[in-house]
Formats: sequence, C-alpha cells, structure tokens
Amino acid sequence: MSQSKKRYMVTSALPYANGALHLGHLAGAYLPADIYVRYLRMKGEEVLFVCGSDEHGAAITMRAKKEGVSPREIIDKYHELNKRTFERLGISFDIYHRTSAPLHRETAQQFFLKLYERGDQFEERVTEQYYDEEYRQFLADRYIVGTCPRCGYEEAYGDQCEKCGSALSPLELIEPRSVLSGKPPVLRQTKHWYFRLNRHEGWLREWIGKGVLDGKPHHDPAKWRKHVIGQCMSWLDQGLQPRAITRDLDWGVPVPLPDAEGKVLYVWFDAPIGYISATRQWAMDQGDDWERWWKGEDVQLIHFIGKDNIVFHCIVFPAMLKAHGEYALPVNVPANQFLNFEGNKFSKSRGWGIEQHEYLEEFKDFPNKEDALRWALARNLPENRDSDFKWDDFVEFHDKELADNLGNFINRVVVLTNKYFGGVVPSLGNDLKETLAPVVALAEKWAAEIEDFNLKNAALLFMEVSTWGNQFLQEQAPWALYKANPEDPRIAQVMGAALQIAALLGYLAEPFIPFSAARLRKLLGMGAWARGDWSKAMASLKEGKPLLPEGHRIGKPEILFAKIVDRRDDSRLKIIERQKAKLQAVLEVETKNQAPAFPPIADQINYDDFARLDIRVGTILAAERVPKTDKLMKLQVDLGLEQRTIVSGIAHQYEPEQVVGQKVLVLANLAPRKLRGILSQGMILMAEDKNGRLVFVQPADQGVDNGAKVS
Ligand code: 2FM
Ligand code: ZN
Repeated sequence: MSQSKKRYMVTSALPYANGALHLGHLAGAYLPADIYVRYLRMKGEEVLFVCGSDEHGAAITMRAKKEGVSPREIIDKYHELNKRTFERLGISFDIYHRTSAPLHRETAQQFFLKLYERGDQFEERVTEQYYDEEYRQFLADRYIVGTCPRCGYEEAYGDQCEKCGSALSPLELIEPRSVLSGKPPVLRQTKHWYFRLNRHEGWLREWIGKGVLDGKPHHDPAKWRKHVIGQCMSWLDQGLQPRAITRDLDWGVPVPLPDAEGKVLYVWFDAPIGYISATRQWAMDQGDDWERWWKGEDVQLIHFIGKDNIVFHCIVFPAMLKAHGEYALPVNVPANQFLNFEGNKFSKSRGWGIEQHEYLEEFKDFPNKEDALRWALARNLPENRDSDFKWDDFVEFHDKELADNLGNFINRVVVLTNKYFGGVVPSLGNDLKETLAPVVALAEKWAAEIEDFNLKNAALLFMEVSTWGNQFLQEQAPWALYKANPEDPRIAQVMGAALQIAALLGYLAEPFIPFSAARLRKLLGMGAWARGDWSKAMASLKEGKPLLPEGHRIGKPEILFAKIVDRRDDSRLKIIERQKAKLQAVLEVETKNQAPAFPPIADQINYDDFARLDIRVGTILAAERVPKTDKLMKLQVDLGLEQRTIVSGIAHQYEPEQVVGQKVLVLANLAPRKLRGILSQGMILMAEDKNGRLVFVQPADQGVDNGAKVS
C-alpha cells in the first residue's frame, strides 16, 4: 500500500490586474506565503504555490474607462508588471496564471455547471437593477454614485461609502447617477442566478467554529487567527443570504447557459476558481495530475489573503467547493490585517506609500534591496493587528539585525576560520551535540512558529540564533585562546561549532532573505539547498553530526550587508532620505492646500437650544472594533448614573487599548440609533484638527466624577 503524504496547496490572493501593487499588498498576502512555502520546500514537503492576475470585474473595466483603453490593454500591462515584480522580489510562485486565459474560462464554467446541475444550489431571481439608458447597460455597483444615506457624502459608491465606511446597496443611494453617462439611471428587470449560501450555514458554523467537517475533525480551530474566526462568526450570526453570482456585463466569464446572453459570472465567483485553473495549467506544463492537489484527504489547502478577503475565502469559496462535492476545504486561512505606511493608509492619489516596482527602481543602487525590504516587512507583518511601515524601522532592522547581528557573526566566523585554519573546517571534537543543543532548540521553535503561521516570531527566532552565535564567540573568545597558544585544541572546537551555527543560519535565513541566504551558503561552500535538506540538517545536528564536516573548505571573507548608516559612505542613507523627503513634500503641499482649514461657524442658536444638550462626563471602560468596518468602535462608557454602549467612528485612528480608561464628554440625551446592528446610546465628543485627526474632548480636571453635567 502506498503511504499517503500531505500535499500543500498554497495560494496567494489573485491581485486585480488594474494597477501596480504596493508594499502593503506584499506584506499582506505574498511575502507571508512565500516564507511559508520556502520553508515547506526546504523541509521536503510536496507543495504547490499558485497565484495570478484577477482580470475580471468592475475594477478592471473602470480603470480601462479612465484611461480610455480596452480592458485587455489594462490587464496585459499590469499582469506583466505584477508578475515581473513578484519575480524580482523572490516571491517563488510555481505559476502566476491569469483569469483571462481560456483554460480559466473553461474551468469556471465547468464549476458553475456542476453546481447548476445539482439543482439545489442555485435559484433564479428577477430583480430590478439600475440601468444606464444612454449606454444601454446595467450598472455594476461601482458604476453608480450618489449621496450616502448614512453620512451625506455625495460621492458614495453603490456598494460602499468611502467616507463613513458603510456597506451600501445601490438602491439606498440618494440621487444616484451613472458613472458612465452622469445621468440618473432607471430601474429595469433582470434575471440572475443566486448561490444559496444560506443552505451552507449549518456546516460552515461547525467547520469554522469547531474545525469539524461532516462529523469528523478537519483542522484545529485554535490554529486559526482569532480575527479570522471572529469575522466569519459575525457574518454567520447575521445569517447567510443567497448571493447573486452573475452580472449583466460584457467583460468576464460568460454564464454557460442558453438563456444567459450578456451575462457573466460575478468576479468573486470566478476569481477563486482561478486557483484551480492555475493548478491545471501548471499540471499540464509539468505533466502532473492537477486533481491530486485539490481532491482527497491528503490535500492541505491554505489561502494567504488580506483581511478584506476573509469572507470570500472562509465562507463563500468553501461553500462553493463543498457544493461541488469533490474538493478539499482549506485547513487554514492565515489572513493578515493591513499594513499602513508612516502612520497613514497607503494612498496612490495622495502619493502616500511606495509601490513594489517603484521601490525596486528607486533602490536600484542599494545592495540587497530585495532582502532589505523582505526583512523590514517580515519583522513587521500585520498578522494579528494593523502594523505600520516606517523608513526608520527599515534602517534599524537592516543595520542592527541583518548587518550588526547576522552579518557580523558570519563575517567573524569566516575571517577567523580563514585566519586560524586556512579556510578549512577543523577537527570538531566530541561535544558538538551538547554545544549546539540550545541553537537546535531555537531552530525547532522557529520551524514550529512557521508551521503555525507565526512568521514574525519565526523571524525573531532566526535572529536569536545569530545572537546566540555572537555571544558564544564572545564568551569563548577564540582570539584570546589563539593569542595565548595558537595550538590550543579548544580553538578548533569553538570555531567548529560556530561554523555549524553559520551553516544553520543558511537555512533559517532562506524563507525570509533568500538572496542573502544563497550568498551565505555560497560563502560557506554549501551550494544550493535541495528539497528536504532542512529535515536532514536538523536530524544531523540532533545527533551531533556537523553540517560542515571536518576538511570542508569555505570561501574568503565577504561583507553580506553594508550598513545604511555609515560615516564613510552615505549613499545608502541618501536613498532613504530621499524617500522621507518625498513624504515631507506631500505633507507640505497638503497643509498648504488645506485652506480653509475648518468648517465655517454654524448658524446662531439661542441658549435654550444649547440647554437641550445633556453633556456628561464619563469614562471608557471597554472598547472593541466593530467587525467589517474601518472606523467603528464599540465602547462601554461609565456615565456615573449608568453604563452605556456607544458606537464611535474612531477605529481608524485609535486602537481599543488606547482608549480604555479615557475620560470623555458624552452627549447623553441623543436619541439611540442602531449602527451595524449595535444600539448606540449617545455620542462621544471629539475635536477634529486640520489633518482630520480626531482628539478626545475632556474635562481639564481629570478627577471630576463621571456623570457630572456640562453646562
Ligand atoms: O481583493 C482582491 O484584490 C481580489 N482580486 C482578490 C481575489 S482572491 C481570489 F479569490 F482570487
Ligand atoms: Zn457615508
């Protein structure tokens, strides 16, 4: 009987081919996946890593319209750019496919038909949708703008208001207008196919909440990130509804039914099937069988995504796979939160942030630019909460960790081995196993953290091994032994052990900084690693067998990382300073353009109007983000007389832990209203400065009792 072995099917979210990707994307779904698969390959697992361009949907057609070109021109341009940029950054996809490929169309249509033929998965509905009479087409949600019913913003989209973050439906917009003609659209009847997601609620709850599928354990839910489960549960708690999976559009995968002229599959139906078509293409190219990567109990399907894609990958796509009946479901979806940039969201229109290809261009004279970036991002991955990329951190991670710690250790080992032993690994003695036990333990922890998707912790452990090596050399001081007696056998023992640690670092570095890892291995005369080498290396070290045996020749000293802050050469620092200057310029222009800075003073009121406001002093006792919103935070506030739940639009600027304990002023007699299903009983008073920063308004004397009335 052939022994079954796990097969890892790893995917990264297919980015829309409508623009370049920035560092936030890289940190969200691509670098983490690459770290993970590089580790798995080294370990010797069977792993396939697929990605590609998502080339359908309104994101593409709108970009094409904006640039006055065809969607095809847009997708060709950005598919090539993104594919090439990922390659340059060492993101090691086995295939980077595209959803405009005929094979994808066929795969998506077959998938749709399978569900259709089951008879109980879809329902047809005729509904009224907005139609642009001048352009003679139905309008996708993004093609309709109007006034937000929640906040009054006049440019809200049919699916979302970007000002207040509310999810909307086009029919809710006040005074809607078509993006195409600028005119008010009319309502027309149209037929669509709806996926009966509601039928999947029961098993999804078991599967996500308990890791149980069809009554059997499927995965360990404790290994799923809390925010992923939280978001899914809040969706499930609101009840799943049938979802339209077709659209009236001329760009996309045509609905493969006779009565579906002019209709295509909704982009979020076809995009995840793109993972399957990418696998099929890869398998065809390799002469492999694609189905063994998607079907059967050995398949370990893992989706790397950003938090905005959680629902599609944890609820909708699994339901599609289950409805199909033959596919394995994901064993984990390690979604990341968002990476911000120097304190703010990435924004192309503001010029805030840097795109991946731009980085490669602007850092072209920076040695190790790929790894410097990979390391800065890996150290700061937004795994469980949003994180912030800062150029100062980039410098610090590079200089203190890569150069001073890792680079210094490797350099000392190589220099001393060349000096004392002519570049040849000396006789190793018998206590290698014992000496190396602490680093072997760290390396095992490193591997476990990667397997649990705690990649930031793994990055720290990798550095810890290097720190351990430096301390070991410092304590053993082979230079002092050498000075006292160049024949002292302890010199060989110390250097022999240090050489093994250096070789171990050649593996630990690989997932994070693969370009430097290759240079490091070359420097140690190790050559490229082959699949499974990591497992062999660990087995050897545990038995006290060396990675670099006695007599092995290493290379000549070479600097792996040139520090950025270097008094003799400021060229690298200048590259960083240019980046900071660009941001400074953005801020200066924005400050200048911000007149008038504040809204004009409102119409006069009389004292009675004011006296109707009941403003009280309170203290925030507890705070949590409202799931699936950018701005809303749910607060428990002590008002002295009673406690209140208040929903406040501050979550884009404050973390819950920052606001707990704050003294605040509360408009206490504001009529309660429901926000995202939560009854908000009052309003926290905030001041908004010129830059849109929200600041709590507080009593000057913080000792004042809760409940005190402002008059
Ligand atoms: O959010 C996005 O950028 C989508 N293009 C992700 C799609 S992931 C998968 F479903 F293909
Ligand atoms: Zn709004």
